[in-house]
Amino acid sequence: MKTRLPATATAPPADAAQGPDALVMDGVRVSLPSGRGPLRIIRDATFRVRRGEVVALAGESGSGKSTSILAALRLLPPGARVDGSIVLDGQDVLATPRREMRRLRASRARLIFQDPWRSLHPMKRIGAQLVESARTADPSLSKKAAAELAEAMLARVGIPDPASRMASYPHEISGGQSQRIVIAMALVARPSVLFCDEPTTALDVTTQAQILELLRELNRDLGLSIVIATHDLDVITDLADRLVVMYAGEVVESGPTAEVLARPRHPYTFSLLRAAPGAQTGGRLHAIEGRPPGPAEDVPGCAFAARCPSAEDVCVSAHPAPREVVPGRITACLRAEGYGPIGGTP
Ligand SMILES: Nc1ncnc2c1ncn2[C@@H]1O[C@H](COP(=O)(O)OP(=O)(O)O)[C@@H](O)[C@H]1O
Ligand SMILES: [Mg+2]
Repeated sequence: MKTRLPATATAPPADAAQGPDALVMDGVRVSLPSGRGPLRIIRDATFRVRRGEVVALAGESGSGKSTSILAALRLLPPGARVDGSIVLDGQDVLATPRREMRRLRASRARLIFQDPWRSLHPMKRIGAQLVESARTADPSLSKKAAAELAEAMLARVGIPDPASRMASYPHEISGGQSQRIVIAMALVARPSVLFCDEPTTALDVTTQAQILELLRELNRDLGLSIVIATHDLDVITDLADRLVVMYAGEVVESGPTAEVLARPRHPYTFSLLRAAPGAQTGGRLHAIEGRPPGPAEDVPGCAFAARCPSAEDVCVSAHPAPREVVPGRITACLRAEGYGPIGGTP
């Protein structure tokens, strides 16, 4: 899995009918400068999101889910240092000029935040905002064509009476409807990848389920690739084809969701799932005992070693490189084979 893509991987691959992978992060490290030395926010993120896939980035709060998304879109604060390789929709992100990145974020790769209000201008009508989003992505669209597209997308995301909603202001709309409108605003740009950072966390449970269902439909019907950061087990079980588990800025495990849930290949995943109340029937992913190393700490070995029941001396001194333990299953645990729960019931 540690195949490094050429730095010039901007052209679509030979099977262009399928298109390039939605996102390939390879050995990505992110650090931010601080008065007391660099903060290692992402220590090692390696994962792949195939075209048309829904991939969940899961982990406790502070594990680096949001930063991974921001790195993929090159939205990190000034001064951030990024190493490794990031290829987004066939484009080498770290080699792409700023202006072109801005264009890419307006069209092919869109981001939705936890809080829908953050994406809506309070003083502009919904219709005008949708039209602007459509025309920024495709300047050749006429105002009329953009308005028609906007109305159709409002209908598509389940907004009743879309024609009159076009004339509404954001404050006239409920939280759940607002998140639908934000999704429509992304869709009018005809993206191929949608990044969602905890898109349902701010919503009530019923609305949460509806938004997840909507995202699932959009993935199925439009072939939209979705990368969703979450600490919610429902999001993972209901939506994600594949799961990428993060811990202290590292991807510690990835694989098909059902397989990872049934048989974790990393002790952190095991603890995380066990810590979730009602484990696979609902509930949040709760922090387990102890505390992960902070971004200012230099960790030579495995970041989970200090909390790991299976850790040995080598785990503290050697950084475990991610490796494929069974086809499609990647883990960054030196002792994956010898680790108790593997092969048993978690
Ligand atoms: N701009 C920043 N300056 C300093 N520390 C940051 C900054 N952004 C994120 N961090 C730190 O990086 C770590 C990962 O944060 P984040 O990516 O937001 O995690 P998550 O989304 O999984 O909760 C946290 O310890 C957080 O405090
Ligand atoms: Mg976050």
